[in-house]
Amino acid sequence: MEFTAHASRPLRVAIIGAGQVAEKVHAAYYATRRDVTLVAVVDKEAERADAFAARNNIARAYTDADEMYRLEQPDLVSICSPNRFHSAQVLQALQHGCHVMCEKPPAMTPPEALAMAEAAERAGKVLAYDFHHRFAEDCRILREKVAAGALGEVYVTQARALRRCGVPGWGVFIDKEQQGGGPLIDIGIHMLDAAMYVLGFPQVTRVSAHQFCKIGNRKNRGLFGEWQPEKYTVEDSLFATLELAGGGILRLETSFALNIPEESVMNVQFCGADAGATLFPAHIYTDDGGKLLTLYQRQEADSQRHHNSMKAFVDRVMGQESDVADGRQGYRIQQLVAAMYQAAEQGESVTL
Ligand SMILES: NC(=O)c1ccc[n+]([C@@H]2O[C@H](COP(=O)([O-])OP(=O)(O)OC[C@H]3O[C@@H](n4cnc5c(N)ncnc54)[C@H](O)[C@@H]3O)[C@@H](O)[C@H]2O)c1
Repeated sequence: MEFTAHASRPLRVAIIGAGQVAEKVHAAYYATRRDVTLVAVVDKEAERADAFAARNNIARAYTDADEMYRLEQPDLVSICSPNRFHSAQVLQALQHGCHVMCEKPPAMTPPEALAMAEAAERAGKVLAYDFHHRFAEDCRILREKVAAGALGEVYVTQARALRRCGVPGWGVFIDKEQQGGGPLIDIGIHMLDAAMYVLGFPQVTRVSAHQFCKIGNRKNRGLFGEWQPEKYTVEDSLFATLELAGGGILRLETSFALNIPEESVMNVQFCGADAGATLFPAHIYTDDGGKLLTLYQRQEADSQRHHNSMKAFVDRVMGQESDVADGRQGYRIQQLVAAMYQAAEQGESVTL
């Protein structure tokens, strides 16, 4: 697919969903570029939209997306609303001829994510998801090293997105109906995407999983404020094994609340026949006759992940070569998330 920049004028950008990620990531990034102008923001709550526009120097605020599209005719749209609105809002943006950057997760279900990918392809527009961890330099380096065989056959990958007592005290994160799930769809999905990206998106043949809710529906306070345990309807931890076509496994562990020693873990380990690697920061190690060896080491993990993710999207829209987390990969990730929930709920593995 080829995309052409509107070289004669800055591209017009609108943001839908005036929350914290919209401000810290999307508005902050667009403000760094001279070839785009943030012209409008939409939120279902007028006060939030107005305040967001005032803080971020955006000319107009709306509560009605249709009106915004009619009056503003944006070229690019960022979808930063809660999960259950992503699908309809992405399709709407594509219908209006916009390129779209959508926050993760892509959608609530695989059929929704597939429809989004197909709609983007039909429209010939860029659809990118903000799976920002894969945009760390650490991921790019390890992906290349793995592809070049530096670890040998990678047969065990362990992805962890764990919090000891980190149930979000804001938003709709504890509500299965509104959010689609708990830590898996919120934070586990990030390490799943990073692991799949480094491994080159291998085929997954079977998924088994166990989920628990032992703390979120009992306690009411943690590191991220207070929540209502009687309204807690998502898992508070989930453990899954994904069997890969080549015979290896990818294990995913994720939690909002779990009695582990660390406050938080967001990382992936790759165990190969010749060497192992840890993702953040990128580190490759092996041994020789009992001597432990470091083959490669970055001192610090890349902290510019969101910036890199947004840049990849805008660069792609401008017609430059850049790798985005696209509609098809978003669909693959959504399928895996759904398979993990299905396997955990029915207590049986799911064949893909
Ligand atoms: N990539 C990341 O690291 C990352 C980080 C945080 C959040 N997110 C994702 O971003 C999305 C938003 O999360 P957040 O933390 O910014 O939430 P938030 O609660 O801070 O903001 C959401 C905003 O959307 C508005 N909204 C609700 N329904 C709407 C609708 N139908 N149309 C327009 N606006 C609507 C709300 O009023 C609110 O202002 C979620 O999907 C979340 O998973 C991603």
